[in-house]
Parts: sequence; C-alpha cells; structure tokens
Amino acid sequence: MDDKIVLKAENLEKTFGAGKKAVKAVDGVSFAVREKEIFALLGPNGAGKTTTVKMLLNLVSPDKGSIQIFGEDMPKVQKEVMKEIGTLLEGSRNLYWHMTVRENVYYFANLRGKSAREVKDDMEMWAERLRIQDKLEEEVGKLSRGMQQKAAIICALATKPKLLILDELLLGLDIITRFEVEKLVKELKEISTLIISSHDLRFIEKVSDRILIINKGKVVAEGTASELRHKISYAKYRFTLRKNEESRYLEELKSIRGVEISFYEGNIDTDILELTFEKPELIYDVFDIFRKFSVIPVEIDNLGEPFEEIFKSFVEGGENK
Ligand SMILES: Nc1ncnc2c1ncn2[C@@H]1O[C@H](COP(=O)(O)OP(=O)(O)OP(=O)(O)O)[C@@H](O)[C@H]1O
Ligand SMILES: [Mg+2]
Repeated sequence: MDDKIVLKAENLEKTFGAGKKAVKAVDGVSFAVREKEIFALLGPNGAGKTTTVKMLLNLVSPDKGSIQIFGEDMPKVQKEVMKEIGTLLEGSRNLYWHMTVRENVYYFANLRGKSAREVKDDMEMWAERLRIQDKLEEEVGKLSRGMQQKAAIICALATKPKLLILDELLLGLDIITRFEVEKLVKELKEISTLIISSHDLRFIEKVSDRILIINKGKVVAEGTASELRHKISYAKYRFTLRKNEESRYLEELKSIRGVEISFYEGNIDTDILELTFEKPELIYDVFDIFRKFSVIPVEIDNLGEPFEEIFKSFVEGGENK
C-alpha cells in the first residue's frame, strides 16, 4: 500500500462561544489520512465530526492545531489544491435551492475549474447509479430530502476529485441507494482518497480502511474495524460438541480466567456451548481442556461481537487505548 499522507491534522481544537456557554466541540484531535484510503470519522451526535470536517475545509478556523493537505499548510493552501477536493457538507445545505440539479453540478464544477462538458458524462453516470437521472432538470429545493442528498453527492463526485470529504454521506438515503453508495465508495477508492462520516456503523465497518472514533471532541479509538474489535477483544464462539459422558470439562472451563460460559445446552447427541473470550488466544486453553477430556468439537462458529457493541464500549467507556 502506498503510504503517502494526503491529509494530516494535528491537535485540532475548537471552542464555540465563550464563558459559561462555551462548548469545546473539538479537543485535541489528530489523525493522518493516507493516499487512496477510506478514512472514517465515527461518533455520536455532537461528537465534533462536522466541526472537524469544517476545519479541514477551512470553513471554521481552529483555535489550535494544524492541518496539512497535499503537503500544504492550511489556511495557505493554494486554490488549485482546494479544487482537487470534493465535499459534501452534512447533507445538501450548500446546494443552490433555486437551481436545477444539473445547474448545481455545473456550477460547482466550474468553481473547481472544470467546464460543463468535462463533467457531463460523469454526472449522468452517477445520476443513473443513484437513480436520480430523471430529476436532473428539477430545482433542488423541490426535491425530496434523499434526492437532495443524491444531488449533493453528484456535485462532490463529478469533477473526479483527488480527495473527497463527505460528512454524513448516507443522510436521508433509502436502503437500496445505501447499498449502491457502499459499492460506489469502494470503487472511488481506486481513484480518490476518502474521508467519510456517517452514523451507520454497519456501513462504516464495511467500507472503511481506518476508523477514528471521537466522542465529546476527543479521539477515543483509532484503527481498522478488526483492530477495534481486538482492542475491546471480546471474541465469542459457539462450539457444537460430540456428546461426551464426562461433563467435568465444564467445571474446568469455568476455571479459566477471561473465559466465560455464556450459554450451555445439553442435547441427546451434542452439547452446545457458547464462550466469551477476553483475549482471543484463550481459545488454546479451551482446546487443552477439550483434549484432556476427549471432547470433540464437530462445529465451531465465530459469533464475533456486533460492531454496535464495540462502538458503544469505546464511547461509553471512553477508554483511550
Ligand atoms: N456554530 C456553532 N456554534 C455553537 N456551537 C456549535 C457550533 N457548531 C457546533 N457546535 C457544537 O459543537 C459540538 C460538536 O458539534 P458537531 O456538529 O461538530 O458534531 P457532530 O459530531 O457533527 O454531530 P452530529 O452527529 O449530530 O452531526 C456540539 O456540542 C455542537 O452543539
Ligand atoms: Mg455532524
């Protein structure tokens, strides 16, 4: 993988208001985004995602910290460099309500130095994929919320930007469009670097190369989805075991520290056992006991841990691992 850093944010801080009413929206956030990776900002409402994104785009100036984009320091970044960035800001509020979808796409392309002719084919291609091709000549203000979001996505994509910063990408989209956006994001990675924020954990888990979880303006975890799983490391397995007269093995399993029996069912010819592991490697201790008592697993299922649980554990626990 190419390790070139496209965007680097260091120690960002932003407080809104002053005195008693002051809100520290972002409190020491740092991260680096590598070329052609999908980097996700994840966090509950009010975590500071949008404020962070706005600082990256120089729409909000940080109180402290620094930002580099394509090696240039914000806010001195050349206009030409800013033109390489496609943006979606918390929905579609930045679109022009009285202009049609097509006019909006051409207008924003123009701001980034591209003519209508240059973006027309891409616009039509994305419109078809997002199933909005029959709305191109309609005023954005008259479209449904989801359609407006689609229009905003097309505005961000049409110029083939090198960096895409997409806040609340899935806002208002129906389930079929979400699946399409999932595919689309993975394809975009071939040509672009993506920073996305979304509340949809399943989506983030599926598409992101790396995830930054923030809560109350602070980074609480960072890593790939699988690294985040390991950090809270609750592996869960279901064992289907060939019936064994010897049930003493259960007592021994209970004595392993960090392994918990969360479910047991004795059937006529099998035992079903679900175990939760604080560390995945504790599975070796379990196998030692199976061997000792000649307990033979006929099936092993990894029950994993739903990503929702992992997310909750970081946000509620606030661990800074
Ligand atoms: N312009 C502003 N003036 C005052 N407070 C603000 C402003 N913008 C954001 N905040 C506050 O900063 C905090 C972070 O807000 P932000 O919009 O960055 O969160 P978010 O993670 O994007 O949340 P959401 O998931 O709801 O979009 C919140 O407490 C919010 O109320
Ligand atoms: Mg937001």
